[in-house]
This record gives sequence, structure tokens and C-alpha cells, in this order.
Amino acid sequence: MKTWTRKDLIGLDDLSTEEIQFLLDTATAFKGVGERSLKKVPALRGKTLVNFFVEPSTRTRTSFEIAAMRLSADVVNITATASSLQKGETLKDTALNLQALHADIIVLRHSSAGSPRFLADRLESSIINAGDGSHEHPTQGLLDIFTMRQKHGRIAGLNVLIVGDILFSRVARSNIHGLVKLGAKVTLVGPTTLVPAGFEKLGVRVAHRLDDVLEEADVINLLRIQHERQRKEYFPGLGEYVSLFGLTKARAARLKPGCLIMHPGPINRGVEIDSEVADGAGSVILEQVTNGIAVRMAVLYLCAGGAGLPT
Ligand code: CP
Repeated sequence: MKTWTRKDLIGLDDLSTEEIQFLLDTATAFKGVGERSLKKVPALRGKTLVNFFVEPSTRTRTSFEIAAMRLSADVVNITATASSLQKGETLKDTALNLQALHADIIVLRHSSAGSPRFLADRLESSIINAGDGSHEHPTQGLLDIFTMRQKHGRIAGLNVLIVGDILFSRVARSNIHGLVKLGAKVTLVGPTTLVPAGFEKLGVRVAHRLDDVLEEADVINLLRIQHERQRKEYFPGLGEYVSLFGLTKARAARLKPGCLIMHPGPINRGVEIDSEVADGAGSVILEQVTNGIAVRMAVLYLCAGGAGLPT
């Protein structure tokens, strides 16, 4: 694949295998930029990016801002509490006003699934989904897959466990769509309430006992319990969750040598992952964060129709 024709990135479900590979290859080119002493290229000079986060974020928002600055774009950050959404302005009107202010790219995080698609269909600006409700978080999925490919040298055939709150996780959905397209063997692990029947349709296996599948894993990706999206209790208590699904020190000792321990963040230390395991030898959690810059540079560059890919 030589050209990119999309102005928006809404989800990995929309992309072909070739498009995902092209994004990952472009991110590899940009990763080199972050390793130079001068970490900037002129690819998006003259373009304006608005980071519009209606939900909290540390990693994604900062990473998009750094990625845009490394591409020489101008960056404006706005949050829900500091915007006229507070006065009743609709999301569409807010976005139309950002477009009228010549925003070439709007990076949107929103609690409502479908809001980036809604704007993408109505605006000429590029819309990049930075996480919409429980739907997708495509740049997180891409940076997770990029990290797996960097460490293992391939995706096809890898055994990837995604553990925890699958039902409410946009990160899980983006990982599933991308990994299945690239040929990984994905197993979703969690209580039946959080990994209900139906996920197999996406081309994955479902397991309800982590201890049965732990030792097969080339990658274990642990997800946070999304208390903010749950309207009732999905398991009896955190103690029981840890005993059945937590990556404790004892479980980490049973992982295959070279198994990557991943987490999209923010971590609940002592719940889905033991604190020492999170900081230990197999963990690539902070490398995921660093890789997010290159992946987001690739997404911004391609969707904004930039020029000047580093050689
Ligand atoms: N992984 C992730 O989306 O983190 P933030 O919520 O801090 O952006």
C-alpha cells in the first residue's frame, strides 16, 4: 500500500489489514525521529490541531500534543469544563466552531460511543478518535500492536491474552479488531459478567479461568475495571477479582520467558496487576506510552495529508 485516503481515524474495525500495516510501518519511520537529538520534522507545518477531551486523560492527550508538536503543527487544548459545552452548546456546534477557527484536525475523546463518527460525517476537519465510550480507542490499539510487533518481530500467530473488563473496554475492542486482522490468536479472559457470550463472533476465544490459559501467552494485556462505565456490580469484590484474574507475583512467575506484560493505563496497582510485576522485568507498560508518540505522529501525518515522511 502506497497511499492513504482517509481523513479520519474512528476505529480499527473500519481499517483493512493493509491500512493497519501501513500505519504501523509509518509509525516505525516516525519512531526514529524521537530517537534523534532534534526530534522535529516539518510535515504538518501550518496545520492546526485541537485536542478536545470531554473525558479525563493523561497519556493520550499529552501524547497527541507531543506528536503534533514533533510534526511542527500548532496545538490548542480544550477541555469540557473550560468550554461552552458547560453552557449547553451541542457537540456539533462546538466542533463546527472549531472548524470555523481553521482546526485542520480535531482529536476527540468523549464518553458517548459514536460521537467521533458523528462529527467525521459532518465536518471537513480530520476527526481522530481518542476514545469514545466503550466503542474504540484506535490509537491505543495501534500502539499496543506496535509494541508487540517491535518486541516479538511479528503479530501473526502470537497468543495474546486480554484480561479483565472486556465488556466496557474500548481498548479491548480496538486490540481485538487489529490483532485478529493481523493474524494473532486472541483470548479474552474474565468473569462471565465482563466477558459475556457473543465476543467469539469477533474471531477470538473466550476463557473464564486465567490459570487455564496463562502459560500459553506471548502477551498478556491487563485492563482496568471501568467503574465509571458500570452501573452495577459485575463481581462480588476486588479481593475475589484479584484472586481469580489479577496478575499476581505467583502468576507472573508462571508466564513463558519473553511474555510481554502490557497495560494501557491508568493502572490500579494491586488489582489487575501486582505493583512489583507492573514495574518488573517483563513489563513494557512505559514503552507502550513512549511508542504512543510515534503511532500518533503516523496517524496525524496520514489523516492530515502531510508531506515529508522521514527517511
Ligand atoms: N490509555 C489511556 O487512554 O490513558 P489516558 O486515559 O490517560 O489517556
